[in-house]
Amino acid sequence: MRTHYCGELNRQHIDQQLSVCGWVNRRRDHGGVIFVDLRDKKGMLQVVFDPDDAAMFAAAETLRNEFVLRVEGKLRLRPEGTENPEMATGEVELLAQKLEILNASETPPFQLDEEDVHDDNRLRYRYIDLRKPEMQYRMQLRARVTHFLRRWLEDAEFLDIETPMLTKATPEGARDYLVPSRTHPGSFFALPQSPQLFKQLLMMSGMDRYYQIVRCFRDEDLRADRQPEFTQLDIETSFMDEEAIMNQMENMMRALFGAVLEVDVDGPFLRMTHAEAMERYGSDKPDLRIDLELTTISDLLKDVEFKVFSGPAGDPEGRVAALRLPGGNALTRKEIDDYTDFVGRYGARGLAYIKCNDLSRGREGPQSPILKFLPDEAIQAILERTGAATGDLIFFGADKAHVVNESLGALRIKVGQDRGLVEPGWRFLWVVDFPMFEHDARENRWNALHHPFTAPATNDPELLEADPGGTLSRAYDMVLNGTELGGGSVRIHNIDMQQCVFKLLGIDEQEAQEKFGFLLTALKYGCPPHGGIAFGLDRLVMLMAGANSIRDVMAFPKTQTAACLLTQAPAPVAERQLRELSIRLRKPQAET
Ligand code: AMO
Ligand code: AMP
Repeated sequence: MRTHYCGELNRQHIDQQLSVCGWVNRRRDHGGVIFVDLRDKKGMLQVVFDPDDAAMFAAAETLRNEFVLRVEGKLRLRPEGTENPEMATGEVELLAQKLEILNASETPPFQLDEEDVHDDNRLRYRYIDLRKPEMQYRMQLRARVTHFLRRWLEDAEFLDIETPMLTKATPEGARDYLVPSRTHPGSFFALPQSPQLFKQLLMMSGMDRYYQIVRCFRDEDLRADRQPEFTQLDIETSFMDEEAIMNQMENMMRALFGAVLEVDVDGPFLRMTHAEAMERYGSDKPDLRIDLELTTISDLLKDVEFKVFSGPAGDPEGRVAALRLPGGNALTRKEIDDYTDFVGRYGARGLAYIKCNDLSRGREGPQSPILKFLPDEAIQAILERTGAATGDLIFFGADKAHVVNESLGALRIKVGQDRGLVEPGWRFLWVVDFPMFEHDARENRWNALHHPFTAPATNDPELLEADPGGTLSRAYDMVLNGTELGGGSVRIHNIDMQQCVFKLLGIDEQEAQEKFGFLLTALKYGCPPHGGIAFGLDRLVMLMAGANSIRDVMAFPKTQTAACLLTQAPAPVAERQLRELSIRLRKPQAET
């Protein structure tokens, strides 16, 4: 049907007789001539309809946005002064000699260049939304990324192996999506939250290097970087330790960014312990493009009378931290109030601050509602430790450590963005030395910080049991510009250790057998040391594309409430189908 794509035509094709296909992006009528911008996956081309051919001209007059055309004609230079330097094909135009209207279109629900189209509308008419050049670029970028990763991994002798979608629950910490079994009434499959256990079994099968670009399903609260179904680049290796795995993954990322974005990522990636990340950034995925840091000042405030500070300062689970904002003196009262509301969303009960007016004036310099509660020495020590200078502002958080970390960690990003402090660039980082477990005080139990198959730093189950809270794991997360791109670990390959970890997690032997009996059995038959990682492919492409949400790099994403507006899924099913599955609904189904 066509000899060329619209978007690839230029001077070199002048005087050629050619044909193109595409969508009407816009029709303009100018002094007896009709111009149509015709759009295809490679871009836009101006087509000119001359009134000399009356029949064709009449047909051209019926064209509306999003009509699908095939046009034959001759490419020519645009008349001098009418070139469009903004367009790749801006020097040329196609003089139409034959027009075929392949299909008409109703007026689309939104124009492709319309700003602020409601997200629901974009999703409901996703096939139109995806016609936008920006979305075309994102889908193409995504395909280039997966293509590159596949080739790189295959060159490194990784084997692409598929794992089941209908499977058993694996504990990645989210709720499962369940699928009822017709042949086993009352029983359910779970869709995989990740192929974690299968990839470990593949190592036990001697596959040595595995990868898969695989859909994962998690029924959890959705955010900009979370979807109920998303894609992992999933990787597992045998006989490699964390050093070797991290190095190889770094090389892969460097090669990817070089090949696809032509970006040189300096190596090696920075490594930071989990403890340091929390201490300095209040986050286990710090955005290093923002040069603001938290400073712990608990020790300076244990004995002050101001209970807001001395309470958490004296609490072993508490933390008092400062966040110095250079030049922050200029913040208005309203801005500070807004930030106080902002940290409130993370559980902070307030946001104390000191404005560093002229610090050369001693006690007269700093200005703050809390100064009257603090002795001079404490103020002086805070100013010194935070490195405050005249013109700065210092924010304070005082609470349980996790509240301070979450609230000041988020404030750090927010203030950095608001005040233009986000440096350009790609700041990769490995976060390492995670604790094995975190304590859930309310339930008085240990939870795995990664998943229960992550190896602890010690090989001795007795040492682990003696100090679960103080033991580190052999896990690592790759972080890029404040987003957790991927996480992995060296795995437990010893059955005693695996049983010990289950026990510490409160999974008794019976439950362990029911849920993971196949893994425990497999561990008895020659399991090699192994480890791996999984990257969030959607997040990776989102960052590479400069998009704000992973939805923008997925062809058919779901809404905040995990629904598909395009197909109207999920939807009620016929009574007959339910009966086949031996399912009776608890509540009458809502009318659809
Ligand atoms: P984890 O749970 O950290 O590890 O997942 C790996 C990566 O997947 C991405 N990701 C998501 N992306 C979009 N939407 C979601 N709901 C979502 N959840 C996770 C993140 C994350 O870093 N089996 C282990 C990996 C391993 O140990 O090898 C796992 O799944 O980028
Ligand atoms: P108050 O004594 O409650 O009026 O608080 C005095 C100042 O301390 C106000 O600026 C509050 O925003 C701030 N503040 C109160 N609680 C906290 C807290 N937990 N962390 C940090 N600042 C707080």
